[in-house]
Amino acid sequence: MKNFKNYKLANLSVTLLLALGLVASVPAADVNKLVKECADCHEKDGNATDGETPSIAGMSVDYFIESMGAYTTDARPALKLKDKKEDMKDIVKKLSEEDIKALAEHYSKQTFKPLKQEFDPALAKAGKKLHRKYCEKCHSEGGTSAEDDAGILAGQPISYLKYSMDNYESGKREMGKKMAKKVKSMKKKAGDEGTTQLIHYYASQQ
Ligand code: HEC
Ligand code: HEC
Repeated sequence: MKNFKNYKLANLSVTLLLALGLVASVPAADVNKLVKECADCHEKDGNATDGETPSIAGMSVDYFIESMGAYTTDARPALKLKDKKEDMKDIVKKLSEEDIKALAEHYSKQTFKPLKQEFDPALAKAGKKLHRKYCEKCHSEGGTSAEDDAGILAGQPISYLKYSMDNYESGKREMGKKMAKKVKSMKKKAGDEGTTQLIHYYASQQ
């Protein structure tokens, strides 16, 4: 009986301390320290400039967490950049769930800056039409919106967009059934050139 009382008292004091902000409920991830590691490839504000690494600024929390999770399984491959020791699979392995949540919150609050890059205006024009017909439903506002939880396509590097589409089409990256259906119809109409046109459309938005 005495122990029970003590237990209740101990619980009460923890509640009090929590209310006073003297103890943290969950150990907070040191986001700034983690972000420094990411900056090696994604830059400090999450807007990558190397022409290969995607920008992660402004992504939705859900998409961010889902894509980090995919690197821990066969659902998604990882690209080893030249002169870098680690790829995304190595990086995600070192993070806890709390770290990933904290990083997702952090990057969702950064502003996405489209990459300045060369593109072919004629391909981009054709790509815009294909986008409206086959992709806009889930990649809204021309692929600029993060709200669909499907990443941000507009303003990503051409090389990353190509890498992603190649991985989907070869089955190395898992593609949702509905997107697969649309990609198939798009291919039927426009062939491999259609994918190139779409990529130039996304790259043209700067
Ligand atoms: C050594 C370079 C490197 C470092 C360091 C790095 N990344 Fe990446 N990251 C990449 C590359 C390259 C890709 C895209 C290719 C791939 O899927 O592997 C990527 C992809 C991602 C994606 C998926 C983007 C999308 O559009 O689906 C997220 C999210 C991400 N990184 C978050 C992070 C976070 C958070 C950190 C720090 C903890 C980090 N990255 C550190 C190189 C890096
Ligand atoms: C039914 C909804 C849907 C449609 C239609 C759709 N997508 Fe997607 N797309 C998604 C979702 C969800 C994701 C993110 C998760 C994943 O990998 O499946 C995604 C991811 C992507 C990515 C990777 C983004 C990144 O940051 O790595 C690319 C590239 C892409 N889609 C291109 C297209 C193109 C091009 C079309 C039109 C031919 C298209 N999608 C149509 C839902 C869709």
